Amino acid sequence: MHAVVFVVGLVGNALVCAAVRRNHSMRTVTNYFIVNLAVADFMVILFCLAPTVAWDVTETWFMGTALCKIVLYFQLEEFLITD
Ligand SMILES: *[C@@H]1O[C@H](CO)[C@@H](O)[C@H](O)[C@H]1NC(C)=O
Repeated sequence: MHAVVFVVGLVGNALVCAAVRRNHSMRTVTNYFIVNLAVADFMVILFCLAPTVAWDVTETWFMGTALCKIVLYFQLEEFLITD
């Protein structure tokens, strides 16, 4: 299921960006907002989904100490921010 979400998410979000980029009549403020969401989702898939799946499946962290801290910071940022 993660592989399906990974592929569909990357392809779908890339197609959203490509559509707005190629068709000039689609360059509206609303579509730029949607592209913004697509780019954010693209990065969540790359930086959160992919490392988590590799980690869960193999129970090994392959990417070193620095990326361990950085990736986990991005994933858990919402819990670290306090008011
Ligand atoms: C560009 O998008 C508009 C809708 O916003 C559509 O009517 C038009 O056919 C599209 N043009 C191309 C070349 O796909």
